[in-house]
Amino acid sequence: MARKPIKKTKRKTTIEFPQPIDFDGANWNQPEDEYTQFFYEQNLSQFWRPEDISLQPDLNVWDILPDEVKDAYSKNLVVLTFLDTYQGDVGMPVVSRSLDDRFHQRKAVLNFMAAMENAVHAKSYSNIFMTFLPSSKINEMFNWGEKNQNLQNIMSMVVGTYEVLDRYTYTRNYEPQKVDFTEDEFLEAQWKAMTASVFLETWLFYSGFYYPLYFYGQGKLMQAGEMVNLILRDESIHGLYVGKLAQEIFEEFDEAKKEELKGWMFNLLHKLYKEQSELVESIYDPVELSHDVKIFVRYNANKALMNLGFDPVYPQEEVNPVIINGLNTETKTMDNFSMKGNGYQKMKSESLKDQDFIFNKERIVG
Ligand SMILES: [Fe+2]
Ligand SMILES: [Fe+2]
Repeated sequence: MARKPIKKTKRKTTIEFPQPIDFDGANWNQPEDEYTQFFYEQNLSQFWRPEDISLQPDLNVWDILPDEVKDAYSKNLVVLTFLDTYQGDVGMPVVSRSLDDRFHQRKAVLNFMAAMENAVHAKSYSNIFMTFLPSSKINEMFNWGEKNQNLQNIMSMVVGTYEVLDRYTYTRNYEPQKVDFTEDEFLEAQWKAMTASVFLETWLFYSGFYYPLYFYGQGKLMQAGEMVNLILRDESIHGLYVGKLAQEIFEEFDEAKKEELKGWMFNLLHKLYKEQSELVESIYDPVELSHDVKIFVRYNANKALMNLGFDPVYPQEEVNPVIINGLNTETKTMDNFSMKGNGYQKMKSESLKDQDFIFNKERIVG
């Protein structure tokens, strides 16, 4: 069914509001832009499964850790799980379906990322829980996340931008007679959702990543650390890609609108930072690492701003070298039977052909 024409808007930029079109297909032979197919390749070559990594070897170390350390480690995994769950269920799909129909390749890349968030990343944290904790403790941890006000506020601010965009997209696509917004207003909602998405990918995850990296950098809980490094490697390209899409939209706004949107963004950043600082204190004070974690949080907030095309706002500070060591992308250990380090590349495959089954001398020689 052809999409109904949408109310005429006043936009004068090169990004066109969707026109009524019939269905078409993704033609991967014609790149949509300079970078999407690169991100496609990168995403697929990084593909991995939670079950690729056996967590059993970490139990020796885990079992002798003090309770407050186990508690902090587990709460961070809950934070990461909640963020990844909604990024997979809502964030990435909403951004994907908000793109014009002609962007089939961009949608495919975002949909692939969406699948990784929950089906691979959130599932990985569940595997760590399953290995390290009894069921009653796992439930206790999830209950903690559901009741933690700072985490809930962070989720609500980020997911809120996704929900606003989704309402715009739905109205535009299915109730065009109810469209009471301009194309600029739609694009603002889209940019805001992408900005929140980059904040989540490149910044908000990192207070949770800190603790697994802290152990990994010291050669402890290595399997869980490998897993987190694989997740981190994915999140890093997610933030870069959505950042590029956001910058493309932002560049089209006039100067006054750019200033207004920057104001909105810094307001969101400060509100998120306040919530995240309190969350960090509640998790890391008992293990006396809050000060260090907050440095890492600011370091990553700066990186998120840069992914969105803005200058850093926090002064440059030295991140704990143990964490930098934990962030090292080279595989620390490799055991082909029990784990795949983050140096793991998915095997390239080729389809079988009839002639592959011809085993005469001629074929072998020729
Ligand atoms: Fe993720
Ligand atoms: Fe992600």
